[in-house]
Amino acid sequence: MENLNGKQRDNWGSRLGFVMAAAGSAVGLGNIWRFPYTTGENGGSAFIIIYLVFVFVIGLSVMTAELAVGRRTQLAAVGAFKKYSNRWTFAGVLGVISAFFIMGFYPVVGGWAMAYVVKTFTGLLSNASAVGDSFGAFISAPIEPLFWFILFLLANVVIVIKGISGGIEKAGKILMPTLFVLFIFLAIRSVTLEGAGAGLEFLFKPDFSKVTGETFLAALGQAFFSLSLGMGCMITYGSYLSKKENLPQNALIVTTLDTAVAILAGIAIFPALFAFNMEPAAGPGLVFVVVPTIFAQMGALGYLFSAVFFVALTVAALTSSVSLLEVVVSYLIDQKNMERKPAVILTVVIMGIFGIFASLSMGVLGDVKILGVIFFDFLDILTDKIFLAIGGMLLAIFVGWVVKKEDLQDELTNSGTVKFGLFNVWYNLVKYVIPFAVAIIAVAGIISITE
Ligand code: PHE
Repeated sequence: MENLNGKQRDNWGSRLGFVMAAAGSAVGLGNIWRFPYTTGENGGSAFIIIYLVFVFVIGLSVMTAELAVGRRTQLAAVGAFKKYSNRWTFAGVLGVISAFFIMGFYPVVGGWAMAYVVKTFTGLLSNASAVGDSFGAFISAPIEPLFWFILFLLANVVIVIKGISGGIEKAGKILMPTLFVLFIFLAIRSVTLEGAGAGLEFLFKPDFSKVTGETFLAALGQAFFSLSLGMGCMITYGSYLSKKENLPQNALIVTTLDTAVAILAGIAIFPALFAFNMEPAAGPGLVFVVVPTIFAQMGALGYLFSAVFFVALTVAALTSSVSLLEVVVSYLIDQKNMERKPAVILTVVIMGIFGIFASLSMGVLGDVKILGVIFFDFLDILTDKIFLAIGGMLLAIFVGWVVKKEDLQDELTNSGTVKFGLFNVWYNLVKYVIPFAVAIIAVAGIISITE
């Protein structure tokens, strides 16, 4: 397949390959690390309901739009915007910047997950009451987390250097189903514990008294982050997708899988957490502190569960981080005429430098604050709460007001050969509703954070 630059373009080898890779991008630390603690901090079920509405109304529409733009232009984020209008190049560039920023902290957490696979067998579980302290000591140490961070980044390099069908797709096809099976297994174990009912209630019985403007922004940010939206990732993945594929249907499959894993992660964690009388609002340490503490009280089986859990977390993080890396790499290939290999190496070196600072900000650089927060949190908050929402809003405006309606209809129905009955609903949502909704939620949320 040739793109508009006239270059040969790699393609997904199969439909399943694309779905697994796109779901692999979506399902990640966002689902397993961030979703549970954000749910815990925002009061549980009411947050989940708002989140689900955002995912299926805003997220699904934006994902469909991103895939359409990517496949139409056969170009990654920056090129895709630029193709329609030079004035829109900035929207693509914002996506590349977001990818750098997310990759500045994401692989640090990926490294923690890798480390915890090994730590499972080197004393982590031997003393349930010491798990919290040992996590704090581990992430604030200067050298050890850096070692794991670099190892995790290298795993990304190995996959992305191999390109689309040989690397990213193969990894997704094997790793994603493994992850899914592991989580079903963990969820079953969790709900069958004595006292698990309180956790299910926390997850599914709505309590709207905890909802504020911030809750809405947290849910929106979580929806964009978890679905890999608002920064050109799905544009990039769509650009490698065959013209035969049904885009709205693929978007629905990926969105559903992503949501299923988040809910499954919630079901794996909260019932067990309540069964062992622990705190739901434990923050970013939730997965690394509460989960091993739970496993530490399970005897020999706990070792198995813990290893399985952290392997799954590592896998999920890896199939997401490769997509973030690919956003930048495909930009360099499409726009700067670079070869894949030097593009990967250049990108990873820069991301590595960000990551070193993010990792050290957990400890020795903890006093260095940007706008009142450490470097790690700065990158996290900036992308999750601001950049992705702005990126998603810009994409909706771009698709609604710059791209021709007929082009979109043509792309989403494969030139009229497949049906997309909800086309007009989707189009009006993207054109009129989403830009305003996102703007209002973002402004209200930011005001309520600063209050
Ligand atoms: N969706 C990924 C996760 O949930 C993170 C991600 C964000 C990946 C943006 C790509 C783009 O962990």
